Amino acid sequence: MFCTRKVSENIHWVGGSDRRLALFENIFPISRGVSYNSYVITDEKTAVIDTADSSISEQFIENVMHVLNGRELDYIVINHMEPDHCANIMNLVLRFPNAKLVGNAKTFVFLNQFYCCELEGKTITVKEDDALELGDHTLRFYMTPMVHWPEVMVAYEEKENILFSADAFGSFGALNGNIFNDEIDFDRDWLDDARRYYCNIVGKYGVQVKAAIAKLATLDIKMICPLHGPIWRNNIEYLLDKYQHWSEYRPEDKSVVIIYASMYGNTENAANVLAAKLADEGVKNISVYDISNTHVSTLIAEIFRSSHIVLAAPTYNGGIYPIMHNLLHDMQQLNVQNRTIGIIDNGTWAITAGKQMRDMLAQMKNMTILEPTVSVKSSLKEETMLKLEELKQAIINSL
Ligand code: FEO
Repeated sequence: MFCTRKVSENIHWVGGSDRRLALFENIFPISRGVSYNSYVITDEKTAVIDTADSSISEQFIENVMHVLNGRELDYIVINHMEPDHCANIMNLVLRFPNAKLVGNAKTFVFLNQFYCCELEGKTITVKEDDALELGDHTLRFYMTPMVHWPEVMVAYEEKENILFSADAFGSFGALNGNIFNDEIDFDRDWLDDARRYYCNIVGKYGVQVKAAIAKLATLDIKMICPLHGPIWRNNIEYLLDKYQHWSEYRPEDKSVVIIYASMYGNTENAANVLAAKLADEGVKNISVYDISNTHVSTLIAEIFRSSHIVLAAPTYNGGIYPIMHNLLHDMQQLNVQNRTIGIIDNGTWAITAGKQMRDMLAQMKNMTILEPTVSVKSSLKEETMLKLEELKQAIINSL
C-alpha cells in the first residue's frame, strides 16, 4: 500500500525507509536505519525529484503511482546519480516512456555508466541557473559538485521557496512517520547521526560544501528537502550553523574526547586516569572511547564535534596499533583540521607509536599537538603519572 505525505498542496514525499540494512555504503553502521527521500510535484506538468534505493523500489513505485493518480509523468529530475537515489530511474522510464530525464552533462555520463539505456530524445541537459517550468512551480538548478559526487546539483522551487538539496543537509536514520524537523526532537534523536552522516560521507569536501552554502545564501529558502532524513521547514539557521562548523572544520564544542587502543588494559588505565584528572579540574562532558569497540565513523564524528582530542595507543609491530593507524588515516582522508591533540603511547620495548602518530597528525592542517607526549612503559608508574599531570595541565591551559 502507498505510504506518502504531503510536503505542501502540490508537493509530495514519496520516499521510504530501510530498517534492515546493517551498513550504509557497506561501511557505516545504521542502527536507526536510513530513509531515501523522493518528491513528486504535481502541477500542469508532473515531476519526480530523484528516485530511491533498490531496497524500497516496490514502496517507491506504489507511492509515485498513487500521487500521480493516473496522470503521466513528464519529468524525472536527477540531482544525484549515486545508486541509493537513482536505482529506480529505469523503473520509471519503463512505466513512463515519454518522461524526460532532467540532469546536467555529467549526470548523463554517469547514467550511461550505471545503466544500459537509449537516451536519444529523452534528456534535457541543464546547467547553472537554468529553469524548468512546471506551471505555477519552477525549478531552478544550481551545480554543487562534490556535495557529494561531481555531478550533484540542487533544485530550488521558486514559488514555495523549497530547496531540493540532494545529499546535503541529510542524515542517517529511518523516518518514523514524522518527516518534518518540527515533528521530532532533532537534538536528542538525530543530531549525532546527522553529524556522523555529514563527516563520513561529505566531510572530505568541506571547501565545496562551503562554496555551495555561499552560493545558496542568496536564495530565500523556507524549506529544505534532502534525500535522507528529515525535511526542514523551520529553524533552518540552526542546520546552516551546523553545516558552517562542519564544512570549516570548526569544532562545535570546547570539550575533550579521549580515544584509546589498549591490549591489556594499561593504555586504557592511562586514558581513564587522564579523564579523571581533567574532571577534577572541572572539565565536563569528557568522552572516552575504546577504539576497538567503537566504529570509526562514530570516532570521526566525535573528532569533528570536539575541540580537544587525546589519542592513546600502543606500539605494535614497530608501528601504530593498527586500528589507531586506520583512524589517523581516515582523519587524513577526511581533511580533519584545526584540532588540539594530546598523545599517549605505550610499549614494553622500542616505543615509537607516539612519534608516528605525531608524524601523521603533522600532515593534517592546523593541528596543535600538546606537550608532552606521555610514553607509558608497559604500565603507569610514578614518573609517567607526572607526565600525565603535565599533559592534563596543557589541555586545561588550551581549553
Ligand atoms: Fe545518498 Fe551520495 O548518496
